[in-house]
Amino acid sequence: MKGILICGGTGSRLRPLTEITNKSLLPVYDKPLLLYPLQTLLSAGITDIAVITGPEHMDQIAQFLGSGERFGCTFSFKVQERPAGIAHALGLAEEFAAGESVCAILGDNVFFDDLSPVIRSFKTGAHLFLKEVHDPERFGVAEINASGKVLSIEEKPAEPKSNFAATGCYLYESDCFDIISGLLPSARGEIEITDLSKAYLMKSELTATILTDEWVDAGTFESLHKAAVIVRERKMEAIDQAKKRSAGKRLTTEVI
Ligand code: G1P
Repeated sequence: MKGILICGGTGSRLRPLTEITNKSLLPVYDKPLLLYPLQTLLSAGITDIAVITGPEHMDQIAQFLGSGERFGCTFSFKVQERPAGIAHALGLAEEFAAGESVCAILGDNVFFDDLSPVIRSFKTGAHLFLKEVHDPERFGVAEINASGKVLSIEEKPAEPKSNFAATGCYLYESDCFDIISGLLPSARGEIEITDLSKAYLMKSELTATILTDEWVDAGTFESLHKAAVIVRERKMEAIDQAKKRSAGKRLTTEVI
């Protein structure tokens, strides 16, 4: 499986922070935002990764990521000439995918669940990761039945049919590129990732996993801040636990 890290968009909701840099390079506590979705790909054993972004900040992103050597992966870089949508960006990776299935992840999405078992076991069709949110109208929204089957999916509906947001990690079989080439732009002029998922739903090949831990689309000041707060909390917890463990070890040695 190939990885596609999509750092598109204009970051308009984060201006002026995004006037001179890409949203995905903004800090989330101690690391640039895009390292979190990159970690999600790496944790799932994906090491061949295409990074897609606009022409404005490709130089900074490529300079920061480099060849991939220090992350144990290989990067290919693709420029999306204009912000024509997430599915459009994914479509640019057709040659790169070379007939393999893909895990596409957005450069502004921070996942705290471990997605790797699902990613590693993906075989056919399309798979979404859903998260219950209080503001579903900001996202792609999936309606599911009691057994978790996806019944419908809509992009930023004014009247959402559920509270389940489609997060920015998508698993697609290699036929996604044929489907993308047939998609039409939405009212906002973009080739929508939700329309791609909808095409799989139409052929009964769309499945989903519901996330239980935190998930943040860090595209606004509030959510960017929230991501940093959670990362800091988790780090402090990990440091505390490590301290307790090493204190325990010293104690054991002293007793012996
Ligand atoms: C995009 C997608 C949306 C998805 C969201 C997840 O929205 O269009 O379906 O729920 O990412 O982060 P955007 O953040 O581009 O508004």
